[in-house]
Amino acid sequence: MENTAITRVWFLALLACVSHALPDGCSWVNIRGQRLMAWNKERVPAKTLTICQSACENHKGFECRSVDFSRKERACVLSDGDRTDSYLRYYKKWQYSEIQCKDESRNRSACTLVGPVRGKAMYESKLKNTIRSGRTVEKCEAACREEQRFFCISFMFNEVAGMCTLQEIDTKTSRLVEFPTIDYYELNCEPGVDAATWKPPAPVGTPDDMLCSTRGPVVGYSIFPPLESVSHVANLTQCEKLFTEKSLLVRLKAFSYNPTSRECRFHTKNRQTETLVAAEDFNYYESSCEFSEDLVNQCVRFVSEN
Ligand SMILES: *[C@@H]1O[C@H](CO)[C@@H](O)[C@H](O)[C@H]1NC(C)=O
Ligand SMILES: *[C@@H]1O[C@H](CO)[C@@H](O)[C@H](O)[C@H]1NC(C)=O
Repeated sequence: MENTAITRVWFLALLACVSHALPDGCSWVNIRGQRLMAWNKERVPAKTLTICQSACENHKGFECRSVDFSRKERACVLSDGDRTDSYLRYYKKWQYSEIQCKDESRNRSACTLVGPVRGKAMYESKLKNTIRSGRTVEKCEAACREEQRFFCISFMFNEVAGMCTLQEIDTKTSRLVEFPTIDYYELNCEPGVDAATWKPPAPVGTPDDMLCSTRGPVVGYSIFPPLESVSHVANLTQCEKLFTEKSLLVRLKAFSYNPTSRECRFHTKNRQTETLVAAEDFNYYESSCEFSEDLVNQCVRFVSEN
């Protein structure tokens, strides 16, 4: 039939431009049953994964780096981001596909595990769902090497709880901070790196002991609504400790404490984005462990606003 013939010619033409669109040393990596969260730029119709990938390779307007494809819905979602920008979630009947090149420096699955750095943690992890329980260091290491949703390059391990937090930051970009119950490990690709003698690089700029992690109080203020509150904590130190522990699970930015009722509140926002509201007996504190040259300058004790 004429129609079929036309379709075939069109399809062959499409295949022809499929083959050479990727730069040398680059190929598609496919992950079944997953989709990239958010970061979805454009949806185009596609019957097959190959057509979908080709639409990405030849896309004009933005640099397409990954696709989500559903055969059932004949849908192809192009994205200018990949697992570095967002992360993957389970999605029945979809598959995620990303362009990876030979010199993919983000993939450390074959590199050397170094550590532990005892009693240190790293706080900038943006990803959720990376916490695993019932683990040993070996299981944690394997989970990091095999992680598909993002490029796992380091992990924090709590030996007592058997909990491990996988993350995509390391000592090159982020600072380690004191945390008694946590040990830090990373996958390191430097040629000739020796796991037994490796030490984390010395932090640049502000020395550790000048790094302020908690700033405050702003007396008589809090943020509403709090994400969560805990009543009858022992004291401010205890409230701060709970805050630090919870920060490993949820991205918290501030806390407030009421010394009279001994209520401790956790906040996901801070002064920068949220207005502080007057709250009798509450004092507001905020935390930053982000490395920044001017952190010391931000380390101002707030003046009581009463
Ligand atoms: C890293 O590379 C390995 C081997 O090529 C591959 O199996 C794995 O899926 C890659 N990891 C990620 C997160 O893409
Ligand atoms: C705060 O409470 C904790 C836990 O009960 C206790 O160990 C600590 O000594 C208290 N700190 C202060 C400054 O009172």
